Amino acid sequence: MDVALIEAVEVEETGLQVRLPDGQQAYFNAWWLRDNCPTSFDAETRERVFDIFHHAETPRPEEAYLDSGTLVVRWAGEGHVSRYPLEMLASYADGKRRHDPADLPRRPWFADHYDAMTRVSHPALLEDAGERRRWMEALLIEGVAIVTDMPDSDEGLTRTAGLLGTIRPSFFGDYFDVRVHVNPTNLAYTSKALEMHTDVPAEELAPGIQYLHCRRNSVEGGRNLFLDGTAVANDLRREDPEAFRLLAETEVPFYKEHDTIDMRARQRVIELDHNGEVSGVTISQHLADIFDLPQRFMDAYYPALVKFGRMLQDDKYVMRFTLRAGECISFDNHRVVHGRAAYSATSGERYLRGTYTDRGELRGLYRAMVSEGRFK
Ligand SMILES: [Fe+2]
Repeated sequence: MDVALIEAVEVEETGLQVRLPDGQQAYFNAWWLRDNCPTSFDAETRERVFDIFHHAETPRPEEAYLDSGTLVVRWAGEGHVSRYPLEMLASYADGKRRHDPADLPRRPWFADHYDAMTRVSHPALLEDAGERRRWMEALLIEGVAIVTDMPDSDEGLTRTAGLLGTIRPSFFGDYFDVRVHVNPTNLAYTSKALEMHTDVPAEELAPGIQYLHCRRNSVEGGRNLFLDGTAVANDLRREDPEAFRLLAETEVPFYKEHDTIDMRARQRVIELDHNGEVSGVTISQHLADIFDLPQRFMDAYYPALVKFGRMLQDDKYVMRFTLRAGECISFDNHRVVHGRAAYSATSGERYLRGTYTDRGELRGLYRAMVSEGRFK
């Protein structure tokens, strides 16, 4: 034991004052310390196996001292000894969120993004972890990337999406076919124009990452329209803070009714992250329910919504291009707003096959790929 460091720990009624290696005096709560003793975690599963709810008494340090970069605590009553690396304590000293390597800064993009859009080839993704990482980073930072050289098969999409998570069904099933249907359940299944939207806001948790695999596209018209919803929302925040506030704070209803389906969910049109920054948008004219908000509130809300909706048509933001057969566009469905121009159904064939995975899985895979991790 390093005698000179004994006074670096002070026992208080509810916890300990510890002098960290950088000289900072930091307080740690006794419950927190006892709960997070390194022995609380199972070496194999890495899960917490210590159960603080079954701890009969309030944890009280009987003895506490520093010993070669470690805080040693002997707990009263049970006699258990905990050893905490000071490095671990230092990272929790300020009550700041644990560092998240998947929390990459979003880079807004505009109408001219087509040439700069990240492209990765399907065969390279299957073989090369570096290419998978480049793809994941494009989705985290820009929210969009094109996968090229896709095989002309259903399996191709399954393998592509499977690289970023588990297929996430919606009420259309595991996969959906965007082409002209005989009895369409959705505007996408017609040749009509499809206004700018994010998918399936009528579900409580709308799907996170969307994949649209273009299998055939020889029709006249039907250009793809994509924009970065966060870029638009950030501009609205600067231009009209009150409209922005209304869209970021108010939940509005979305719905999907068809045969046996009666889905309803409420969403905020502008989504903020834990830093108060715009992390996404939810917009869909064809799935917006009749707003059941006070009519007087609508005096302020509608102008804000319409202003934002008009910005979503602005040439400054909308990237227009034609997805080619063999390309699969992947994008963050909570951030990227998409639509389609009308096309002539008799002029050729247009067939896109789609599916979803979730954003949490993408972030989880990315962390596991790049992070040192708590347990590594
Ligand atoms: Fe869509």
